[in-house]
Amino acid sequence: MQDLHTLPIFPDLRGKTILITGASSGMGAATARALAHQGARVGLAARRRDALENLAAEIRATGGEALVIPTDITQEAELEAAVARCRAHFGQLDGAFNNAGTLGRGAALHALGNQDYQEVMGTNLQAMFWALKHQVPALLAAGGGAIVNNGSVVSQVGFAGASLYTASKHGVMGLTRAAALEYYPQGIRINAVLPGPIDTPMAVGGFGGHEQLEAALKTLPPGRPGQPEEVAAAVLFLLSRSASYISGQGLAVDGGYTVQ
Ligand SMILES: NC(=O)c1ccc[n+]([C@@H]2O[C@H](COP(=O)([O-])OP(=O)(O)OC[C@H]3O[C@@H](n4cnc5c(N)ncnc54)[C@H](OP(=O)(O)O)[C@@H]3O)[C@@H](O)[C@H]2O)c1
Repeated sequence: MQDLHTLPIFPDLRGKTILITGASSGMGAATARALAHQGARVGLAARRRDALENLAAEIRATGGEALVIPTDITQEAELEAAVARCRAHFGQLDGAFNNAGTLGRGAALHALGNQDYQEVMGTNLQAMFWALKHQVPALLAAGGGAIVNNGSVVSQVGFAGASLYTASKHGVMGLTRAAALEYYPQGIRINAVLPGPIDTPMAVGGFGGHEQLEAALKTLPPGRPGQPEEVAAAVLFLLSRSASYISGQGLAVDGGYTVQ
């Protein structure tokens, strides 16, 4: 794990309220910790309340502010309520990291069914639409803000055995680009991070174990899986005013995976 103290400090993030979906694990949890370290106030959304409570306790123990918001993002009303809870608790919403996602079942396209489609597209793309739909008015009310969506290297390239996941993450990039154009004039920047294989429960599960993940990456450009904190660092930058002229972009955080 990268030491939080080695991350650059973005002074404008201090006091900002940021909603993070998928905060119970992996990149979401790492980004919540990193944002809290910057002095941001974080809304922690995911289904597993216990994991969120543990993270909130850890953040509060270091002087940070965190709000636990149990949320299933496949339910529009719950995402809408998560935004409302952040606003009610912290006074306003200044940004979001729309990070929650699912890999779905690894299988060839012809072996997938409508249930797979609903699970993957519902979690990764439909919920991304709902998140943006309900966050944008809150950010407009705050006078502007920034949103970072979690895409993937497969927002740009294909991956055999993950057709629905690939389609959903291409969709995330499409939503990011169009929404960025719609709202930049109103002071909202919307970007995506496009991580390569990152050492989280999702990737470890997808590759069939930690050793398999390490082995699979030995011969690919990064040579190793990325750490969640390496993605968090990119999210901090994109949420901060240091990225004030950057919108609609997908920032690959992949150790060169997509430029091979
Ligand atoms: N790891 C990689 O190699 C990799 C690479 C590129 C992109 N990504 C993307 O990065 C994001 C984060 O994944 P991760 O790698 O950090 O995996 P992770 O550790 O498994 O975390 C996934 C998170 O998504 C949340 N989530 C899933 N379905 C949800 C739902 N219906 N409602 C609310 N929250 C839900 C989970 O929380 P609960 O289970 O508590 O609900 C969990 O916090 C995902 O969008 C993923 O597609 C991952």
